[in-house]
Amino acid sequence: MAKKATKKTSPRKTSASAEIHDIPSAVKGAEPHKNVRERGTPLIEMRDISIAFGGIKAVDHATVDLYPGEVVGLLGHNGAGKSTLIKVLSGAYKRDAGQIFINGDEVAITNPRDAKALGIETIYQTLALADNVDAAANLYLGRELKTNFGTLDDVAMEAECRKVMHRLNPNFRRFKEPVIKLSGGQRQSVAIARAIHFNARILIMDEPTAALGPAETAQVGELIKQLKAEGIGIFLISHDLHDVFDLADRLCVMKNGKVVGTAHTKDVSHDDVLGMIIAGKCPKAAIPGPGAMREAA
Ligand SMILES: Nc1ncnc2c1ncn2[C@@H]1O[C@H](COP(=O)(O)OP(=O)(O)OP(=O)(O)O)[C@@H](O)[C@H]1O
Ligand SMILES: [Mg+2]
Repeated sequence: MAKKATKKTSPRKTSASAEIHDIPSAVKGAEPHKNVRERGTPLIEMRDISIAFGGIKAVDHATVDLYPGEVVGLLGHNGAGKSTLIKVLSGAYKRDAGQIFINGDEVAITNPRDAKALGIETIYQTLALADNVDAAANLYLGRELKTNFGTLDDVAMEAECRKVMHRLNPNFRRFKEPVIKLSGGQRQSVAIARAIHFNARILIMDEPTAALGPAETAQVGELIKQLKAEGIGIFLISHDLHDVFDLADRLCVMKNGKVVGTAHTKDVSHDDVLGMIIAGKCPKAAIPGPGAMREAA
């Protein structure tokens, strides 16, 4: 089902340098970062994406990529364009320009169904859980398993739910309770279970820890590490620098719809990243994007 009429052949595949990670076109001319060279083809590349609402350029020539088993943190002030960029990937918004590649093949994502068929799942901050039913019912919401008699197969759904929850959160025991009674961290695990159960390769998490206390934030951090270990690529939108420094392999800062820069987390400091977010200053260790402030001549 993942191969639905959404694939086109990419010119990248046929070029001699297909296995070399290109410099994103939006930052051509910039020196590629040493760690970004020769990493192979990204799981996802969003290239030169633009989308405007009325006169406002919500996303302006943004290029980001993501490798399997990698977490890329998306940072920026309110209104920077982070959610809009990932909504283009999840099929919620239709881009005005730009291309999306999965494993080097260009794909057409024009609605959420296309994105899901390609293994892209999104967990929005609201989680979109059905509060009054249990974890298994949430896992299969809209895709319920039926018995041969056409009735709901609660036994099979609960068994499957126990399997996927065990993989994510082995301490979870509250299978019989409506999710409204669960803690924030447990609810987040149910939302993640639902996303990955249907073969997600790419997970988008928009502020997953914003409403959580420290213990639950740590729990979600563990879930993210678990998913990374399974080779899932994750875009993590967060305002919390500590979360991003703890969980993200790379980070990408946006400002006024433009990418300021992309860096390996270990190569930059909190102050560097604050300078990117607030002033659009791109440190030496980052690859500058079109939103990087120009140095005074
Ligand atoms: N559906 C929409 N209609 C009109 N304008 C929109 C729409 N969605 C986003 N915008 C505008 O696009 C810009 C980027 O918004 P976006 O929500 O992507 O920012 P963000 O970085 O996710 O911010 P936050 O951190 O507050 O979530 C803002 O100026 C916003 O007002
Ligand atoms: Mg947002």
